Amino acid sequence: MVGAFVGLSYALASTHPLRPPADRLKRALLAAANSSDAEPAIPPLPEAFAHFRSELGEEVFGVGLGIARSDTQARRAANLRNYDFFSAPVAVIVSMDRKLASVDAMTVGMYLQTFLLALTESGVASCVEVSVAGYPEVIRKELGIAENMDILCGVAVGYEDDTMKVNHLRTMRSAVEETTVLLNA
Ligand SMILES: Cc1cc2nc3c(=O)[nH]c(=O)nc-3n(C[C@H](O)[C@H](O)[C@H](O)COP(=O)(O)O)c2cc1C
Repeated sequence: MVGAFVGLSYALASTHPLRPPADRLKRALLAAANSSDAEPAIPPLPEAFAHFRSELGEEVFGVGLGIARSDTQARRAANLRNYDFFSAPVAVIVSMDRKLASVDAMTVGMYLQTFLLALTESGVASCVEVSVAGYPEVIRKELGIAENMDILCGVAVGYEDDTMKVNHLRTMRSAVEETTVLLNA
């Protein structure tokens, strides 16, 4: 699941006088991403891994959304949809106590994976988004998340828009031999 959702109760929520936090968060993130002086604080991947991000980007933007690499305006507009959680009605933020070590990140990762699988089993789609973690202070402020919590990623949650080609992408996976060493007994 990649890039577009149709609303669960979004139509109802957006007409409610007390706008829900998801809506507020989206507007604050979009404002930050639109402001030229706020570059997202996402560390670049080390060189050996950087190709994964660019290959996925090419699949999503090029193949899925049909936007040419040279069309920077359309790519920027598509990229900005991250901060609206692709119109998903539910926006999730995943965070981890800063005092925990990278070994503990496995626990958070497993929790997240289980959450995604449970959503999938219920027929609800999701899109993990590291992009929103590029504005941790915005998220902290809007949701009242304490300083000791690192913002790891967001997750857009909603029903998949089946009409979008991008949602039919089956992204690449490394071959088992590249990621696993099997030893003889
Ligand atoms: C750690 C991580 C961060 C990601 N960040 C983003 C993101 O910011 N924006 C986005 O559109 N997709 C992002 N993706 C990709 C989607 O979440 C999704 O995994 C990808 O489209 C592949 O979907 P599939 O696993 O169902 O094939 C990220 C994936 C991972 C694993």
